[in-house]
Amino acid sequence: MSGAAAGGMARSAPLMGRDTEPTIFELSEPGRRCWQLRTTGVPAWSAEELVPAEHRRTRPVPLAEVSERDLVGHMTRLSHRQFSVDLGAYPLGSCTMKYNPKVCDEVASLPGLADVHPAAPASMTQGWLALLVELEEALCAVTGMAGATFQPAAGAAGELTGLLVMRAYHGANGEERRRVVIPDSAHGTNPASVSLGGYEVTTVPSDDRGCVDMAALRAVLDRDVAGIMLTNPNTLGLFEEGIEEIAGCVHDVGGLLYYDGANLNAILGVVRPGDMGFDIVHLNLHKTFATPHGGGGPGAGPVAVSSQLVDFLPGPRPVRRADGQGYEWLWPARSIGRVHSWHGNALVLARALAYIRVHGADGLLRVAERAVLNANWLRTRLSGTFDVPFDRPCMHEVVLAAATLRRKYGVRALDVAKRLLEEGFHAPTVYFPLVVDEALMIEPTETESLQTLEALAGAFERIAAEASREGGAAAAHAAPRTTPVGRLDEARAARHLVATFDARPSSA
Ligand SMILES: Cc1ncc(COP(=O)(O)O)c(C=O)c1O
Repeated sequence: MSGAAAGGMARSAPLMGRDTEPTIFELSEPGRRCWQLRTTGVPAWSAEELVPAEHRRTRPVPLAEVSERDLVGHMTRLSHRQFSVDLGAYPLGSCTMKYNPKVCDEVASLPGLADVHPAAPASMTQGWLALLVELEEALCAVTGMAGATFQPAAGAAGELTGLLVMRAYHGANGEERRRVVIPDSAHGTNPASVSLGGYEVTTVPSDDRGCVDMAALRAVLDRDVAGIMLTNPNTLGLFEEGIEEIAGCVHDVGGLLYYDGANLNAILGVVRPGDMGFDIVHLNLHKTFATPHGGGGPGAGPVAVSSQLVDFLPGPRPVRRADGQGYEWLWPARSIGRVHSWHGNALVLARALAYIRVHGADGLLRVAERAVLNANWLRTRLSGTFDVPFDRPCMHEVVLAAATLRRKYGVRALDVAKRLLEEGFHAPTVYFPLVVDEALMIEPTETESLQTLEALAGAFERIAAEASREGGAAAAHAAPRTTPVGRLDEARAARHLVATFDARPSSA
């Protein structure tokens, strides 16, 4: 590729040993490119013909100009300084960072899927529509729901969509309910979505078994309550044992049950949210169905609903034609409208269907069984080393705590997490759920082997043992000492955030 031989800074093997990698802007050289446009056959209009003068830029966009060779070198070096699901165990509780099988990427790369424009008419995209309808049927089968939308781009976007559906349903019944109930162990996106959806949050406490306190719940329920948002298993990794009772008393006041499906991998093929009494479910395809998480997107947070709510879903929806002759797009009768351009993050949907097809129903059941087994193995092995706030069988994740380590040796959950990086593992989630002091929330996921679990548990045990020894606390406070970037001052970074890059046009 032209211009690839030399760049603004000498870039060759010696860089590998450096502590710092130059930014892409430091690698920039005017006129250097790593792309060329295909010949399309579309006449080449000039910018003057196409864009009115007042909308045209007067200066070039200040982007880095690099060759493909330098770009790939830069990205590869950066990727070696990262921890990723492809590298090793990533026990980040609540986030379900499980390994994403490569077959799903292969499917999503098929030209017949990847090269289709979302505006192509249904008559030319019957294969895509068939895929979407099959995925919808599969997701309804595992959730016990009647229909779904694929538009939401992540779990939180699904929550907002579900709440808007809830609002539309009550509105259609001539009711303006104002409150949504959420347990105090809920994920932070739940109350945020409730507020965005125009509702007030009513919080109910957990009882001493880590479940919704039934007396407190009953006390806040009345006909002003639009619904309750729950995740089951909840964010403490525990199954809400009173779910049928909860469903009964929320439905009794005319409210709906919203299921935050971020933890669905714990119950796949075992029990369905619909059978527990839920009316609306969002699914995190980028968790349960192993499509990659990517820095806030592109993920997919489809929302599935019971039959009474299908008419309110965003549109258009892919459906089988009534005459049995293929598929078409259909607007639900009382749709809340679009929540995403086009049809959502479509290739994430293709990945999810590939994952479901490869596993089959029995494979999905094994996913759940293995996820729960792995978490309970860790709980049992580590219960003598760390505090176990709720010492009973957990589901796919276990919440431990470093409260005793902090009290005795001044070593906190944050220190344990940072030390774990030195041991070659990603850190667990810390300080969440908020109801647990010094929480360490560990989700091993079903993809890790017994050997990996043993290595992970061994690392946790070494860290705890070291804390009790002379100089051990100091080592924990200094961690991580072996990673490309050491311990950062996170409070300073948050308070003095520098979110801009002083980029000058490279031709200047
Ligand atoms: C329980 C729960 N609910 C909702 C979400 C939000 O999902 P997303 O990050 O896809 O927006 C998460 C994310 O970790 C979660 O763990």
